[in-house]
Amino acid sequence: MSTTTAPARRVPASAPVTAPTPAAPQARDWWRRAVVYQVYPRSFADADGDGLGDLRGITSRVGHLAALGVDAVWLSPFYPSALADGGYDVDDHRAVDPRLGTLEDFDAMVRALHAAGIRVVVDVVPNHTSDRHAWFREALASPPGSRARGRYVFRDGRGPGGDEPPSSWRSIFGGSAWQRVVEADGTPGQWYLHIFAPEQPDLDWSEEEVREDMLETLRFWADRGVDGFRVDVAHGLVKDVDGHLDVHVEILDTGIEGGNHPLWDRDEVQEVYAQWRRDVLDAYDPPRSAVAEASVHPDRRARYADPLGLGQAFNFDLFACGWDAGEMRRAIDGGLAQMAAGSSATWTLSNHDSVRHTTRFGVPPREGVGSQEAAKAWVTSDGRDPVDLDLGLRRARAALLLELALPGAVYLYQGEELGLHEVADIPWEAVEDPIAVRSGGEEKGRDGCRVALPWTQDWPTFGFGPEDGALPGMRQPAWFGAVSAAVQDGVPGSTLELYRAALRRRRELTTADDALTWVDDAPGVLHLERPGGWRSVTNLSEVDVALPAGELLLASDPAVVAGGALPPGTSAWVRVPGDDGR
Ligand code: GLC
Repeated sequence: MSTTTAPARRVPASAPVTAPTPAAPQARDWWRRAVVYQVYPRSFADADGDGLGDLRGITSRVGHLAALGVDAVWLSPFYPSALADGGYDVDDHRAVDPRLGTLEDFDAMVRALHAAGIRVVVDVVPNHTSDRHAWFREALASPPGSRARGRYVFRDGRGPGGDEPPSSWRSIFGGSAWQRVVEADGTPGQWYLHIFAPEQPDLDWSEEEVREDMLETLRFWADRGVDGFRVDVAHGLVKDVDGHLDVHVEILDTGIEGGNHPLWDRDEVQEVYAQWRRDVLDAYDPPRSAVAEASVHPDRRARYADPLGLGQAFNFDLFACGWDAGEMRRAIDGGLAQMAAGSSATWTLSNHDSVRHTTRFGVPPREGVGSQEAAKAWVTSDGRDPVDLDLGLRRARAALLLELALPGAVYLYQGEELGLHEVADIPWEAVEDPIAVRSGGEEKGRDGCRVALPWTQDWPTFGFGPEDGALPGMRQPAWFGAVSAAVQDGVPGSTLELYRAALRRRRELTTADDALTWVDDAPGVLHLERPGGWRSVTNLSEVDVALPAGELLLASDPAVVAGGALPPGTSAWVRVPGDDGR
């Protein structure tokens, strides 16, 4: 694989606030094969006992992350926010939510993570701000046509009195994508575009000030020692609103090819990222990394992973797969083929927007319905529909070994190392996700994977917060204690120990050679060989298959032995004599 061409670099004008610690990793290419652990800060660990996870909580758990063996953490938003969308409604991009800590807490967290050899990636949300952002408040107080309104997408309504929204577009979270405002004189006024919740007004990226401000945000965190950025809704930002107000646009239809969709994946958005790369990311030494969250047609994914742009993009194809060898093989082959020259493949099974894959793999397949959708239907049934949780966990453990055997970077989601299942029975009063709220409960939304982590068996917060602290808004279910980190720590065969062993082994086995060779030996089996002479075999069929003889490096089920049978729903890594140097 070729490496990124060395770009012209400059030392940032502002001196770093956090001097790089001696242990801070300096390699330029760390992100290519990294295992990145996603922290959802508000439900990770609560140090101050207010019921909300915080930055000092993350610092207190660096030992867990180091023992797990991850290369980096990615923090979902920790910025000031009313939490209308779990923090993706950002009031101020260059501050820490006071309930989560201070900038000093942030610096201390970065120092502790760097000292443990763990890099730090932060989420940036460039498509929209929150409706509490100073810019939006200024826009509301300013007249139509003003510069303050120009930072957002304000338009006059249609029909008599402008009472109808400017277009028929629907928001991703349900309802119209337009919200009417009350003008300063108290009269009903213009409408603003919000592709997500009304509390998330879209910015107008044709405005130079909007572009400059995001560059400032990137520099702000890079100066504080952040190693990379996860870019929220990277395929949004640039829009052609006025040319399409008369057209009904399917808001979720991101599969349109050619870069001509009015709202998504427009060709011009790459100019934004080229500027980020040139003016910020590559202006640091080592360069800061970036990974795009871009739900685009697979053929267009590489654009976001261009080394002259963001450099890496999430691939959600494996994430969409059911427990099906053919589907997974296609997702893997596609992911490898679509990799941008100079970038790396990425793999993920779960994140804060999905039903946890441990549960997903136990939900029976439905004709004509994808695995994510089938799992969402299960959640929405309050868990009354059939699901085999043991089977799900068994398969999730096997899927981990498959995922970690693939070339490229792997993104893990907090709690999957405990084998956590989705919490499907969150009571209506505790529901937080706007998808659930705006559908009146018809959809359950994404809360079930965002429940506070269980660290110990200690009642009432399972070690999430201090014993006398406030309870998290979404209560943890009683079964969390038995799967807590403390219960699994040091226990052979536990999911936590499997993750630790797998990450350790992967580090030993991974070379700079990203080749992957399929060994086609049985239906329903994903058998692949990697450089350095090792293989990964995953049995997705319903019958035992023979495991090649050789040295067993790791298995997802402790009962598996080299040369023996690999039962359904298990994976093993094997070093086969004679494979070396082939
Ligand atoms: C991304 C985030 C999701 C959020 C949305 C709007 O898809 O992953 O959690 O709701 O953007 O910011």
